[in-house]
Amino acid sequence: MVARANITTLLPRTTFPCEHHSMTPPRLRRAIDPDAEAIAGVWHAAWHDAHDAHVPPRLFVDRPLRYFAGRVPEVIARTIVAEDLTGIVGFVTVDEDELDLLFVDGRGRGSGIAGLLLARAEREIADRFDTAWLEVVTGNARARAFYARRGWRDTGAADRETETASGPAVVPYHRYEKWLLR
Ligand SMILES: CC(C)(COP(=O)(O)OP(=O)(O)OC[C@H]1O[C@@H](n2cnc3c(N)ncnc32)[C@H](O)[C@@H]1OP(=O)(O)O)[C@@H](O)C(=O)NCCC(=O)NCCS
Repeated sequence: MVARANITTLLPRTTFPCEHHSMTPPRLRRAIDPDAEAIAGVWHAAWHDAHDAHVPPRLFVDRPLRYFAGRVPEVIARTIVAEDLTGIVGFVTVDEDELDLLFVDGRGRGSGIAGLLLARAEREIADRFDTAWLEVVTGNARARAFYARRGWRDTGAADRETETASGPAVVPYHRYEKWLLR
């Protein structure tokens, strides 16, 4: 059994960046059912921000708000939300050893919220696994820079075929891994 103190994760900063922008620091907590609508709203907006320029049009037209609202029930039990006085500003979802979803609303980007969510997810995965993995769309340079700076290693590219209402869409992505134990 590896001691909890040996787990390599980012620790929350003692001074939260938002304090410099007269915002309140967010609180991280487990999602509950009444959060579903807010999670879907963040997921929908942030998914389109990050993907519309990098995936086939038939895929992004197939991703209206109701698509994300319909998927929230399957992920909410394994979701952590970041909440401030404005409401839910981001969330992260872990599936076994996979960092499954990490989405921060535009109003929370560049603030450190994403780093807090990622660190929480890494700690959760590290409780049961040595290595975490995730997939990120190749053109999503902001997310790839974010993961790389936090110790995630690009382990290669592949294509994924996704079904849409107007036929299959091929999406290039990269797999990243992070070794979580010293
Ligand atoms: C990915 C995400 C969680 C990262 O959170 P964030 O608050 O934006 O992250 P940060 O601002 O701390 O870091 C982003 C890094 O990318 C850089 N960056 C910003 N815009 C960029 C762009 N257009 N292209 C490349 N890099 C960019 C930033 O400068 C920063 O790097 P630096 O600290 O070395 O300067 C957030 O952007 C997000 O939710 N995006 C939309 C959804 C998404 O892509 N989710 C991940 C799916 S796998």
